[in-house]
Amino acid sequence: MENAYGKLAAWVYHLDKPIGHSFGDLEYYRERLAGCTGAILEPATGNGRILIPLLESGLDIEGFDASEEMLHYCRQECLQRNLNPRLTRQKFQDFTGPRRYEAIIMPAGSFQLITDTASALALLQRCYDNLLPGGRLILDTDNSKEIIQSKGALRSWKVSDNERLTLSSSDPDINYVQQTTLTYLRYEHWQDGLLTHSELDLFCLRWWGIHELTFALRAAGFTDVIVSGGYQHGRAPGNDDAIISFEARRP
Ligand SMILES: C[S@@+](CC[C@H](N)C(=O)[O-])C[C@H]1O[C@@H](n2cnc3c(N)ncnc32)[C@H](O)[C@@H]1O
Repeated sequence: MENAYGKLAAWVYHLDKPIGHSFGDLEYYRERLAGCTGAILEPATGNGRILIPLLESGLDIEGFDASEEMLHYCRQECLQRNLNPRLTRQKFQDFTGPRRYEAIIMPAGSFQLITDTASALALLQRCYDNLLPGGRLILDTDNSKEIIQSKGALRSWKVSDNERLTLSSSDPDINYVQQTTLTYLRYEHWQDGLLTHSELDLFCLRWWGIHELTFALRAAGFTDVIVSGGYQHGRAPGNDDAIISFEARRP
């Protein structure tokens, strides 16, 4: 399965990136969305890492995700906080919003999970169509260097005294023509030294040139495209910025 975020992957994500865990992105999105009074959509909302703190800041935000396992964590965490956002199981490829949004956000490089260029362009168009006039699309991408030069690793999380989760990742297979990487992610659940469950995820990413994505946003009809580095809005990205953010407006 590609980018499936199944049972073990979702468990690891939730342990490693719990609600409110920030790479600098939570503060950035909170600041960029300050003053929004209308509805906000987060496609690929995952476990609610960003959505829940933004809800708690008073924003009217809803989300969808393709993975039932990720949505399960999001629903559970919302319930514990007496929050009741609209959460649906949908895919980037065919989502429909029940309303038009003042902002659509895609933190954590989620946009790069769509490796097929035509589908990515169609998503930009769908975002445009689902925004109110004046509404903004804000998304992050990882610097291409970070994606291409990533290395395989083994990571581990202690769940309890006799329980552990591990994640082994391969070096990425790189396709320079398609601008994609394929990494084999093997998740394992160990109990009392025995392997109880394992899961393989074929993790695929597409990298985008800064100008390429700017042109794509303009081609979808967006204007006022602002590209920023390191979560400093309006600062042009430099070669060493790990994260590059794009903000664009529907006129
Ligand atoms: C990197 S996580 C980001 C989660 C959350 N937005 C955050 O910032 O922590 C990527 C999410 O994209 C979801 N996803 C992957 N492919 C998808 C697709 N085709 N349509 C919708 N969601 C998808 C995964 O299930 C996962 O929850």
